[in-house]
Amino acid sequence: MSKVTVVGAGNVGATCANVLAVNEVANEVCLIDIKEGLAEGKAMDIMQTAQLMGFDTVVKGVTNDYSQTADSDVVVVTSGLPRKPGMTREELIGVNAGIVKSVVSSVLKYSPNAILVIVSNPMDTMAYLTLHALGLPRNRVIGMGGALDSARLKYFLSQALKCNANDVDGFVIGGHGDTTMIPLTSYVTYKGIPVTEFLSKEEIEQVVKSTMVGGATLTGLLGTSAWMAPGAAASSVCEAIIKDQKKMIPCSAALDGEYGMKDITIGVPCIIGRNGIEKIIEVKLAPEEQEKLINSEAAVRKTTATLKELNVL
Ligand code: 2OP
Repeated sequence: MSKVTVVGAGNVGATCANVLAVNEVANEVCLIDIKEGLAEGKAMDIMQTAQLMGFDTVVKGVTNDYSQTADSDVVVVTSGLPRKPGMTREELIGVNAGIVKSVVSSVLKYSPNAILVIVSNPMDTMAYLTLHALGLPRNRVIGMGGALDSARLKYFLSQALKCNANDVDGFVIGGHGDTTMIPLTSYVTYKGIPVTEFLSKEEIEQVVKSTMVGGATLTGLLGTSAWMAPGAAASSVCEAIIKDQKKMIPCSAALDGEYGMKDITIGVPCIIGRNGIEKIIEVKLAPEEQEKLINSEAAVRKTTATLKELNVL
């Protein structure tokens, strides 16, 4: 038996619960929200698709009763406010830090061994807060930003190449921010062939730019943060854990010397399996990518330092 709890039944949380169910990632999904009836309603709506979609996963919705989340293998934290158009993810820290800290404490009371997948923004800093406020080992806290940003990179690559998104590969490291993420152009391939064989430098640069503002573009179009890809990205991380897939997924991980960094949570390629982050993969970076990582590190550290000013850490 496997159980995933999704905290927050807003757009991202409900989509994540839906993808978890449709893909039968776990036997049971508990969707919990502070707003009376919201999680119950979304869970019931998802369950009414069970026979249409042919899944057996049971999705249950609860209002604020954390005892119902007991014995979860994985807990996805989506709580807090989403972005409004024109807002950065970093601007959400004042509201979201307190919410995330309290949610994670409640979750751990009933699932002390759960692996935590952090979605709330600013995601790298919320992962850092979770790790340090609760004193967890670093394998158990995973920020899902890199999974989402890498999916967006593959989408924009497939658009530029006019090809199937499943035929392209590539990943994004660094912070999950409009200016801090680093799509690694030296590793993007089309069926294993470097994309430089198919796209000009300018076309690749455009793919990089579109990826970096991928979330902001959708926020502008939708009037709030995106949810389909964020929800699916969080579900894909849960799946790698529950099914012990040992997949390489770029995630926000606490570094202890990798990439020359310590005491920071930032996006790097990770092997994700039953124990959460089982390994961090260090790839060689081109000099300009190394420089971008140093700038990204500084920006993520600056946001993370705010946690002390807010008295949450
Ligand atoms: C995004 O990039 C919500 O941070 C999320 O869409």
